[in-house]
Amino acid sequence: MDIQWFPGHMTKAKRLIVDQLSLVDVVCELRDARIPLASANPMLDELVKKKPRVIVLNKTDMADPVLSKQWVDYFQSAGIQALLVDSITGKGLQQVKAAVRQAAKPMLDKWTSKGLRPRAIRMMIVGIPNVGKSSLINKLVGKAKAKTGDKPGITKGKQWISLGQDIELLDTPGILWPKFDDPQAAFCLAATGAIKDEVFDREALGLKLIETLIRQAPDRLVKRYGVNVDETTPPEEVLRLIATRRGCIRPGGVIDQEKAINIVLREFKGGELGALTLELPPAK
Ligand code: G4P
Repeated sequence: MDIQWFPGHMTKAKRLIVDQLSLVDVVCELRDARIPLASANPMLDELVKKKPRVIVLNKTDMADPVLSKQWVDYFQSAGIQALLVDSITGKGLQQVKAAVRQAAKPMLDKWTSKGLRPRAIRMMIVGIPNVGKSSLINKLVGKAKAKTGDKPGITKGKQWISLGQDIELLDTPGILWPKFDDPQAAFCLAATGAIKDEVFDREALGLKLIETLIRQAPDRLVKRYGVNVDETTPPEEVLRLIATRRGCIRPGGVIDQEKAINIVLREFKGGELGALTLELPPAK
């Protein structure tokens, strides 16, 4: 969360991931179900190349369930297996291993056809900071223990953890930088808390969030703040209404915009506006 991504850090992260990738058969890419595009790393396709990959959309408890299903269809229509997980409760976790087995099947079939003795499938988890990599690893591992002793060729300290008979998980996730160069992605990342929102103009961030909610889910604003808005209400007006409802008024009756903005940003991030997805799947 506190990583500041400077070019040197990116180069180091890239080198580390390339090393880690060379050890595994399947890559499990973790993204945030509320922002399935913005939470991707811009270079991962290039780094993973043709290695089998599974996209795990995490934090589904905070995302719109209808849109989450649409996102799964979207990725699957692009030929990438995608699944929905909540790494806090463990919902959807069983599917992860099944998806990894499916992704590795062509490789396993090839070994068998060559008469090679099959070994456990090796997998790793990659993703941008704060997407839930550690939470997912902890949930997947459960009571399983890291195997003692490093395998040959593995950097000291790295351990394989057995997830049942046939899958081994690299205990260290691959950490990659987010897409902060793209303003829309940066907005999504800041609004969900994946990157620090202090680097943004909070007023612009809050108004953009309100604008997105007006467009995609005005009912949530009505429900949470008791304001009478629809798709045509300007964001500034919605902010004014919220400020009035929540008593964000300075002496002299002036609206305290900053206070109202902070309320909306905090409550969205905390899930108090309900399960919401900021990014819609691209139209086919
Ligand atoms: P990372 O290793 O990818 O950096 O992420 P990590 O597991 O540390 O998770 C980041 C935050 O996201 C944690 O909250 C964690 O509890 C939360 N989280 C992970 N998976 C899920 C999920 O499926 N649903 C929900 N609702 N939350 C999830 P935290 O420690 O409180 O950090 P923060 O919220 O203060 O940033």
